[in-house]
Amino acid sequence: MRIDILTLFPGIFEGPFSHSIIKRAMEKGIAEIKLFDIREWSQSKHRNVDDYPFGGGAGMVMMIEPIALCIEEMKSKTNYDEVIYLSPDGELLDQKLANRLSVRKNLLVLCGHYKGIDERIREHFITMEISIGNYVLSGGELAAAVLTDAVIRLLPGVLNDETSALSDSFQDNLLSPPIYTRPSDFRGWKVPDILLSGNDREIANWRHDQSLERTKKCRPGLLDE
Ligand code: ADE
Repeated sequence: MRIDILTLFPGIFEGPFSHSIIKRAMEKGIAEIKLFDIREWSQSKHRNVDDYPFGGGAGMVMMIEPIALCIEEMKSKTNYDEVIYLSPDGELLDQKLANRLSVRKNLLVLCGHYKGIDERIREHFITMEISIGNYVLSGGELAAAVLTDAVIRLLPGVLNDETSALSDSFQDNLLSPPIYTRPSDFRGWKVPDILLSGNDREIANWRHDQSLERTKKCRPGLLDE
């Protein structure tokens, strides 16, 4: 899968993309994630990318020209399944949406900053708008990193144990059951006996019951979906 990210701040992604699972996915060639600095498409002498909003008001707006030229160039080279804009106005990211996107081949992801992008970009280029939650971030970059992580970890071969993404919380609208590792007794705080029993069927039943209990207690809304 290929994800091309358009941003004014490529440096924000250095941390999230250079460790652990995303790094490994790129090293294995399963995911190709490329960052593009929108400023490089600015046509002005001072490489401006933002301007005051027509009609007045606070904050700056990302100008149409650099983004349009950038997206057009990207689209001339790659056939994208979706052109995604990260914004609080978008469809809320959940596991279902991550699953849906993980079977696409090429995604183009636009990160806004300042007050946002010129509306005409939305009208003419964006095919999908995604929000990572009902709060406002300073820009789309952290949201794009979250989206990328949620999608890349689902690609076959990325996680060591292929089944482990399938047992994640939310994959079946249930939260994960409690997990433990050695020692089985720490200060008298004991691991449930069933997990030490070696009875795989009973353990699976216990885990399912625990998932259900935890979901009822912590996120009952998931059971209605
Ligand atoms: N940009 C600013 N806030 C955002 C959010 N909640 N989700 C996605 N992109 C954003």
